Amino acid sequence: MSGMRKSAILITGANGEVGHGLIERLSEESSDPIVALDLMEIEPELKKRCAASYAGSIVDRALMERIVSEYRVREIYHLAALLSTRAEFTPDTAHDVNVTGTLDLLRLARDQGSWAAESVKFLFPSSIAVFGLPDLETKRAAGSVKEWEWTAPMTMYGCNKLYCEQLGRYYANHYRQLAEEPSEYNVDFRCLRYPGLISATTLPQGGTSDYAPEMIHAAASRKPYACFVREDTVIPFMAMPDAIDAILSLARADVGHLKRRVYNVTSFSATAGDIRDRVAAHFPHAEITFAPDEKRQRIVDSWPSDVDDSWARSDWDWDAKHDIDATFNGYLFPVIEKKYAGA
Ligand code: SER
Repeated sequence: MSGMRKSAILITGANGEVGHGLIERLSEESSDPIVALDLMEIEPELKKRCAASYAGSIVDRALMERIVSEYRVREIYHLAALLSTRAEFTPDTAHDVNVTGTLDLLRLARDQGSWAAESVKFLFPSSIAVFGLPDLETKRAAGSVKEWEWTAPMTMYGCNKLYCEQLGRYYANHYRQLAEEPSEYNVDFRCLRYPGLISATTLPQGGTSDYAPEMIHAAASRKPYACFVREDTVIPFMAMPDAIDAILSLARADVGHLKRRVYNVTSFSATAGDIRDRVAAHFPHAEITFAPDEKRQRIVDSWPSDVDDSWARSDWDWDAKHDIDATFNGYLFPVIEKKYAGA
């Protein structure tokens, strides 16, 4: 039966920011067909690069069954999630999608693996939102945080990501630990914690690090922008092409080299004021003001100013190609200008 199904890479949240970059790269670099899933119909440009695409929710079990009846899923990039700001307005739905949806997919990966007698790779983006520093003084003193430090998130999204990291580790290392015969083909779960991501071609939806990309896109499209955090607010960031490199390098790493299941990754830390300065220097007409929203500010203040990614560096040679200068001058500005040219 399994021989009848075509093998495929499943990408959930395919129409999102990471999905865009990932589908572009994977369709060029991998011969495995891509099956895309998103709540919305995916963009025609992306659709062309996929063997199939489904519009629907990851919590729709009938839809997931339909997908595995047609495809033997060998690898999963599970990108679908409600981000941190949106999740605070609908915490119950966020839990359903972010936790129940992930658990369903881990089970799907487990089943696919035992059918095919081959572990299914499960790539999961987590986030700096799993951290929760109680106040600014602690944040300043903590500096660059390690994977296991300050993991007391204050958002539903952060709690969801942190718990799913643990579930993934459980399915990879401890599933069926008391069974007569331990299962041989456990899920090959690999997770990286992204900092704030900035893309030149897409905008995030419902996150709390969104002020950075919003500020840049507003300036490039000649719109005024009121930044919802203070000028001195600092968190780590990464350019989207590096985020795609990171998830693909982790996916391709030799499993024997991976001493952890969850890795911090970062590129550069910047304040909202640093970003404003760079944007204003490049777009002299930019109208950027600061109008902090007390509540969203508190969330960003609870995230670390920097993360220690030395485990990723030593286990799978992680190194961001774009530092802050290359992110703005080599990637964001040239690409974003093309995007809004003529608009
Ligand atoms: N960038 C995301 C957010 O702001 C965090 O992962 O929700």
